[in-house]
Amino acid sequence: MKDILFLDTVDSTNRVARDLGTAGKPHGYAVLAASQSAGRGRLGKAWQSPPGKGLYATILLRPGLDVKEYSKITLTAGLALSQVLDEICQLKVALKWPNDIYISGRKCGGVLVETSSLQGEADEHFALVGIGVNVNADKDSFSSDLQKSATSLFLETGKEYEILTLFEAIRSRLLQLVFQLTHEGFADILNQWRERDMLQGKWMQWVTPTGEIVYGESLGVDNSGILSVRDRSGRIYEVLSGDVSLAPQFRGR
Ligand code: BTN
Repeated sequence: MKDILFLDTVDSTNRVARDLGTAGKPHGYAVLAASQSAGRGRLGKAWQSPPGKGLYATILLRPGLDVKEYSKITLTAGLALSQVLDEICQLKVALKWPNDIYISGRKCGGVLVETSSLQGEADEHFALVGIGVNVNADKDSFSSDLQKSATSLFLETGKEYEILTLFEAIRSRLLQLVFQLTHEGFADILNQWRERDMLQGKWMQWVTPTGEIVYGESLGVDNSGILSVRDRSGRIYEVLSGDVSLAPQFRGR
């Protein structure tokens, strides 16, 4: 298998891929681990990574994009992942901003995009697309706090999947969409992302980075991929970071 570093266990594939990116590994290079001892999610959360139950990988990108375009990689990666899971598992995968993977209202995977310093020489810039998918996990594989909110491909389809096969399909689709982003722009990717947006038009809650909670209707993402929410008084907020979810009374419907 070309350009993949296979690891048995590692703290975080994003950490290893960052070191390898700094050392000059090429566009598309990937780190795939059987388990992680300190898997990282968005917003400083941990990503549970038990052996054999999930896909834990990071793909290094040198997309040749302008620095201001790098944020578009986040939605592009979520779209690539959702398309492949739809096709291979015959599922209907939804996306929750910025790039959580949801199936039947439960979280099945997520993407953590990090970058190198984006100062200095453009040809030294890179992005790290960290991908976590619950693949062959059964209910007991999840900690009790996740059992209600998480799901896996196995729980949704009753089938077990070969993690390397899934990974190769995801990497190939991601590289295809990143090529499209660089050469043809973001419009088509964004339209396809919008078709999967599970919050669009719904009543949602946003926990801001300072811990304030805003309730409102999701207005979807704008042409740069920024989410907006309108509260009851009509005030519109731009969601640049923080945690978003369906408002509690709408979950599970
Ligand atoms: C999220 O939904 O919060 C993002 C989860 C991303 C988890 C993956 S697992 C492989 C890669 N390495 C990490 O430490 N995190 C990402």
